[in-house]
Amino acid sequence: GDNVLYLAHKKGIDLEGACEASLACSTCQVYVSAAHFDKLPDPEEREDDMLDMAPMLQENSRLGCQII
Ligand code: FES
Repeated sequence: GDNVLYLAHKKGIDLEGACEASLACSTCQVYVSAAHFDKLPDPEEREDDMLDMAPMLQENSRLGCQII
């Protein structure tokens, strides 16, 4: 689907996405700009769990494959 991971790949942006959006990795992590971050729905628990294990986590981190 048209999530941020998919769109990044379509644009040739190097974002890994090892588990192909099945919420089993954190390699699709992105930093969301302040203007957009607050507009996103809160992450589901499974996304939060994966983010907890993500390297270089920031306040504005989300998993790209979960942003639609
Ligand atoms: Fe693995 Fe997004 S691609 S959680």
